[in-house]
Amino acid sequence: MKSLFTLLMFVITSQCLCGRITPDDGSNFNVLTYGANGDGNTDDSNAFVKAWNDVCGTTQGTPTLIIPEGKTFMLQPLSFQGPCKSTTIQVEVKGTITAPKDIEAWKWKDNKRRSWVQFSKINGLAVYGEGTIDGQGAPWWKKYHDGDSNRPTAFQFIGCESLTISNLNHINSPRNHISIDSCKNASISNLQIIAPENSPNTDGIDIASSSNIIINNLSIKTGDDCIAINSGSNFINITGVLCGPGHGISVGSLGKGGEYATVEEVHVKDCTFTGTTNGARIKTWKGGSGYARKITYENIKLVEVKNPIIINQNYNPHIYDSSSEVVKVSDVTFLNIHGTSVNENTVQLNCDPKIGCDNIIIDHINITSVAGGEPHASCTNAHGTCSSSYPDVSCLSDNK
Ligand SMILES: *[C@@H]1O[C@H](CO)[C@@H](O)[C@H](O)[C@H]1NC(C)=O
Ligand SMILES: *[C@@H]1O[C@H](CO)[C@@H](O)[C@H](O)[C@H]1NC(C)=O
Ligand SMILES: *[C@@H]1O[C@H](CO)[C@@H](O)[C@H](O)[C@H]1NC(C)=O
Ligand SMILES: *[C@@H]1O[C@H](CO)[C@@H](O)[C@H](O)[C@H]1NC(C)=O
Repeated sequence: MKSLFTLLMFVITSQCLCGRITPDDGSNFNVLTYGANGDGNTDDSNAFVKAWNDVCGTTQGTPTLIIPEGKTFMLQPLSFQGPCKSTTIQVEVKGTITAPKDIEAWKWKDNKRRSWVQFSKINGLAVYGEGTIDGQGAPWWKKYHDGDSNRPTAFQFIGCESLTISNLNHINSPRNHISIDSCKNASISNLQIIAPENSPNTDGIDIASSSNIIINNLSIKTGDDCIAINSGSNFINITGVLCGPGHGISVGSLGKGGEYATVEEVHVKDCTFTGTTNGARIKTWKGGSGYARKITYENIKLVEVKNPIIINQNYNPHIYDSSSEVVKVSDVTFLNIHGTSVNENTVQLNCDPKIGCDNIIIDHINITSVAGGEPHASCTNAHGTCSSSYPDVSCLSDNK
């Protein structure tokens, strides 16, 4: 009886879902009808916010904010704010969204400058389309090199549940391109993220305080981490990422400034690193506490990577003394990792003397060095097992 009811409900809901395709059911909100100009220079923020308020306030169909193709919309820092009335909301980006070109032209509501476009507390949000998000980062990178590091994230998602982001092109963020903060159940796929190799801190995706995040099929070429997984994150699956140039896929840094940090259940699979400074990396600061555990890097291809496998539990060791706390690193598996390194030191496991790293498993690794010399591994206080590995990582000892 119950399953019959479920089936009936399913049939009814699927028909309702089909209904949303009809364009004139009052669920599409095109920014042009709200007075957006789309010439790339006029400030279109007000039109976007007005359109958003209607999208967020309706329950009809699947409310969709339409950003049409063939136009470039200049937006000042703004926030798409939830919660919304509908349980699903779409933002269809077919055109280009650009930040102001000159730093002087940015208008801030406060001086924190944390983000350019923010999506906050919206559940069931899908942002998609073949459009481009252009953060106009160049003048900010220059400012950074002149000593000012206060720059915004391009797209920031805060407190969003059941989020999908797909098919977009993100370019030239002032700082990181996408930040996922305090979100649950997100799927991020088919994105291209591009910024110059020498642009500072232009991470592809940063994840913090979030869980059940699936990332699939991304191409990321930036000046910093392709993906960084920060404190409070767990159950993060990453597959099919082409990374490079960039700094690899990193857990951390964790424990900065004495922070209690936790990351667990991170699985990185079927990814390729090309010309990156790091490949699989875990980094924690001395003085922090908490843990990074149950992390796997599996089926990884390396093309001329500088530090293919690296755990650093002593990130910035100079700040703290030997009595400092340490973020525990354990249950980390590197499985089936092949390719080339530009260094000879291809596996670096640099752990703290007091707490060490436990249960590090290295299996089916073959990393050759294009530097010409014999590749080798180095371990400090790293415990675990190694099998079928070139170079041999016999410095991993089982005794603690
Ligand atoms: C997770 O999010 C997707 C949309 O991205 C949604 O269809 C699904 O129902 C969500 N699952 C849970 C358990 O909330
Ligand atoms: C992967 O993403 C790209 C866009 O970056 C897209 O063109 C391609 O079709 C996607 N591949 C799959 C298998 O979905
Ligand atoms: C995440 O990856 C792990 C390890 O590969 C796998 O067991 C798990 O089913 C994956 N979860 C999802 C939701 O894909
Ligand atoms: C490692 O890879 C190189 C290059 O592909 C190959 O020549 C070599 O035989 C491999 N070594 C092992 C131990 O599999």
